[in-house]
Amino acid sequence: MAIPNRWQLWRLGVFLAALAPLVIWGWQVASNAAGPEPGRYLLLNLGLGALWMLLLTLSLTPLTKLIRWKGFALIRRQLGLWTLAYATLHLLSYALFILGLDWGMLGSEVVKRPYIIVGMLALIGLVALGVTSNRWSMRRLGKRWKSLHKLSYSILGLVLLHFFWVVRADLREWAAYAVAAALIMATRLPPVARKLPRLRQRLARA
Ligand code: HEM
Repeated sequence: MAIPNRWQLWRLGVFLAALAPLVIWGWQVASNAAGPEPGRYLLLNLGLGALWMLLLTLSLTPLTKLIRWKGFALIRRQLGLWTLAYATLHLLSYALFILGLDWGMLGSEVVKRPYIIVGMLALIGLVALGVTSNRWSMRRLGKRWKSLHKLSYSILGLVLLHFFWVVRADLREWAAYAVAAALIMATRLPPVARKLPRLRQRLARA
C-alpha cells in the first residue's frame, strides 16, 4: 500500500477535524447530554457550524496571500463542501425536529419566520457552488467560474441576515461573526489585497 504523502495527511487531518463536531454532537444527543431540546441543539449548532465553515473557506485566499503556503489552497474545495454538508444537515434537522417532516407546515412557517426564505436562498447558492466545484465545471465555465464562485460573498451576506433575524433580541454573538466576516471581506478590497503580499515580505524579514 502506498504511503500517503504529507499533503494527503494534511487533507485527511482537515477532514477529520471538520467531521469531529458532527460526531461529538451526535454522541451528545445519543447520550442525552444535549439539553432538554436535543433537536434544537443540533439545529443551532449545525447552523453555526455551517457559518464557521463558510468563514474558514473565505479566509483561505487572504491567508494564502499573506503566508504563501500551498496547504491552504489544497483544502479550499473540501471546506466549501463541508459548508454545504453542514448547511444541508441544518436544513434536515429543521425538517425533522421543527416541521416533524410535515411539509404542509412549511408554508405557514415561512410566513411566520421569513428568515427561512433567506436561509433557503443561501443554501441554494451553496448547492450551485458545490455542484460546480469540480475540475470539469472549472474547465467548462472558464472565466465565468470565478465570477460564479464570487456568489459566496452574497451567500455570506444572506447567512448573516438569516442569523441576525433569528437572534435580533441579543446581537452580541452575531456582532462577533459580522466583524469576522467584515474583516475577511475587507481583505478582498483591491487596496488591502495589494498590501497583503508586501506584508508577507515584511513578516518574512522580521
Ligand atoms: C433551507 C435553509 C435553512 C433553513 C430552513 C434554516 C432554518 C433555521 C432555523 C429554524 C433556525 C433557528 C431559529 C430559532 O432559533 O428558532 C436557524 C438558525 C440559524 N441558521 Fe439556518 N436555516 C437555513 C439555512 C442556513 C444556512 C445556509 C446557514 C449557514 C451557512 C444557516 C445558519 C444559521 C445560523 C448561524 C443560525 C443561528 C444559530 C444560533 O442561533 O446559534 N442557516 N436556521
